[in-house]
Amino acid sequence: MFIAATMPATLLAIESSCDETSAAVIRDGAVASLVIASQKEHSAWGGVMPELASRSHVRAIAPTITEALSNAGTTPAELSAVAVTTQPGLIGSLLVGVNAAKGMAAALGIPLIGVHHIEAHLLSVLIDTPQAEFPWLSLVVSGGHTLLYVVRAADDFQLLGSTRDDAAGEAFDKGAKMLGLGYPGGPLVDQHARNGNRTAHTFPRGLLSPTTHDFSFSGLKTALRYFLRDRFPDQIPTGQDLADICASYQEAIVETRVEKTIRAAAAHGLRRVSVVGGVSANSRLKQRMEQECNKHGLANYIIKPIHGTDNAAMIGIAGWHKFLAGNFSPLSVTARASTIRADRHGTVRVKG
Ligand code: KG4
Ligand code: ZN
Repeated sequence: MFIAATMPATLLAIESSCDETSAAVIRDGAVASLVIASQKEHSAWGGVMPELASRSHVRAIAPTITEALSNAGTTPAELSAVAVTTQPGLIGSLLVGVNAAKGMAAALGIPLIGVHHIEAHLLSVLIDTPQAEFPWLSLVVSGGHTLLYVVRAADDFQLLGSTRDDAAGEAFDKGAKMLGLGYPGGPLVDQHARNGNRTAHTFPRGLLSPTTHDFSFSGLKTALRYFLRDRFPDQIPTGQDLADICASYQEAIVETRVEKTIRAAAAHGLRRVSVVGGVSANSRLKQRMEQECNKHGLANYIIKPIHGTDNAAMIGIAGWHKFLAGNFSPLSVTARASTIRADRHGTVRVKG
C-alpha cells in the first residue's frame, strides 16, 4: 500500500523497550522535541530488572508524552500518527509503550506505526545527518546488541554479523563490575581509561578472523577475570592500575569493533560508515573510527550521544519513513520480545 503523506504532518513517537521511557515529536521529518526519562533504580541491581522497568514505564509514560507534546508546542488533536517500538525488547516494558500508542491512535482516529527498535537505531543517523546517502555500513553497539548491518534504504537492511555471546555494552558493564565500578559501567571505564596506558596489558581480541563478520566477547571477559584473580588477588585495583586496566580492556573492545567494521566496508564495497547505539558515545571508539575512516577515505556519519542511547527521536524518524510510505500497523499489532537477545545482564533471556 502506498499513500503519499499530506504535508505538513506531526508524528508522536514512543520508545519503552528497555529502561528508558521516551517520547518525541517529529514535524515534517525533523525532530521538534525529545524527552528521555532514564530509570535510575536499576543501578543497585547491577543490571536491568524487568519488573521494575515495566512499573517505572507505567509511571513515566503519560508525563513523558505530555512533556514532549508541550515542548514541541503541539497537542494530541494536531497529531497525524503515533509511532511506537513494538520489538525487540523486554516484553513488559514494550507493552507499556505499545498500549499507550494504541490508546492514542484509537482515541484520536489516527494511524498507528509499529517500529522495529534496531531499524530505528540504524536510521538514527538521519537525525543528525539528514542528507546521509544510502547505502552505509552501520555498527550497532548498545547494552543489548552488537550488530553489523548494511543500511540500503529506509526500509532495506541487511544483517552481516552479530555477537555470538555478549553485546559490546555488556562487555563494558561486566568488566566494570569486576573492577568494582558502578552500573552502567561503560561510561566509567571510558572515564578511567583516559588516564591509562592502552598497551599496559594485552587482552584477547575475539573473532578477528576475516571469514566472519561476527563478534565475540566472552574470551575477553574471562581473560579479565583471570587477570584480576592472578594479579590482584586481595584487592580491587585502584589509581594508575585501574586506569591502565580500563584503557587496555577498552582497547580490546574498540579494536575488534573498528577493524571488523572497516573490513566489512571493504568486503561490501561501502564508502560510508556509522556507529549507533549507547556505546557509540565511547571516546576511544569515536577517535579510532574517525582515524580509520580518514585513512581509508570513508565518510563517517557521527550521531550525538543523546541519539545513540535509546530514544524516541529515532523511533520517530523510522516512523516518519513508514508514514510517508503509508506503511501503517493494525490496532491488533502486538509487542514482541523477538529473536534478538534482550538479556543485557543475564537478568532475563528472551527468545521469541
Ligand atoms: O543504547 P543504550 O542506551 O541501551 C541499550 O539499548 O542497551 O546503551 C547502553 C549501554 C550500556 O551498556 C552502557 O554502559 C554503554 O551503553 N555506554 C558506554 C558509554 N556510554 C554508554 N560504553 C562505553 N563507553 C561509553 N562512553
Ligand atoms: Zn537500543
